[in-house]
Amino acid sequence: MARSALLNVMVQAALKAGKSLSRDFGEVQNLQVSVKGPGDFVSQADFKAEKIVHDELMKARPTYGFMGEESAEEKGTDGAHRWIVDPLDGTTNFLHGIPQFAVSIALERNGEVVAGVIFNPATDELFTAEKGGGAFMNDRRIRVAARRVLSDCVIGSGVPHLGRGNHGKYLVELRHVMGEVAGIRRFGAAALDLAYVAAGRLDGFWESGLSPWDVAAGLILIREAGGFVSDMKGTTDIFGSGDVVAGNELIHKALVDVANRPVPTR
Ligand code: IPD
Ligand code: CA
Ligand code: CA
Ligand code: CA
Repeated sequence: MARSALLNVMVQAALKAGKSLSRDFGEVQNLQVSVKGPGDFVSQADFKAEKIVHDELMKARPTYGFMGEESAEEKGTDGAHRWIVDPLDGTTNFLHGIPQFAVSIALERNGEVVAGVIFNPATDELFTAEKGGGAFMNDRRIRVAARRVLSDCVIGSGVPHLGRGNHGKYLVELRHVMGEVAGIRRFGAAALDLAYVAAGRLDGFWESGLSPWDVAAGLILIREAGGFVSDMKGTTDIFGSGDVVAGNELIHKALVDVANRPVPTR
């Protein structure tokens, strides 16, 4: 599979940041950690990885804009392109020594995500996709799972952390989905969850309260793997709403329906 020059830039940046994360993961107890809000942490490892990704990407394409979780957004001069970066998705896992975290890098062109890379340095799994070129894991083509009914499906989700205000809404969604599916998983890194949907490991996924850097690369991976992604209403306003629902065509639709069932009155 031939990667474009741009995708190669993204892959090199993700691998380099991944090396830094692996080193810090080995000494996680010595890292400086600060608290952004209740249950919301950031460490030196996040900042270092973001600087590496930023410098690699901006060296290669200095006119592009840059949006990263841990820094102020930089407007590009070319007006069309923007990098969207989560340098460490799964910080809470990382800080607990759980090897489920990733670097996530997406490229947006005229408001549309056209390339994405998600790299888990702990498992050496590299997920890549470019618009029209298919989705890959370590150079092997990946596709979303083919299961057709929710009762056969394992569905991923994200449970809102302590400071997030949507616990009640989440419990209602959970109750509805739990009553329909074979099983639910919560792995703790949304970008990787979406990569798992693209790879057919998870049949579907839903979460609310996400930011563009959590989902941008995952969106194109899933679409290029033959899947469907939307917000909870089934529209494409994923960045605006912070919601994501994903799966193959049938499972995506079934999840949107189930997640929107009215709250039971008793
Ligand atoms: C978080 C993870 C987590 C999700 C949270 C995100 P971070 O990202 O993706 O799975 O449930 O909503 O904020 O802060 O570790 O990059
Ligand atoms: Ca964070
Ligand atoms: Ca994240
Ligand atoms: Ca992050």
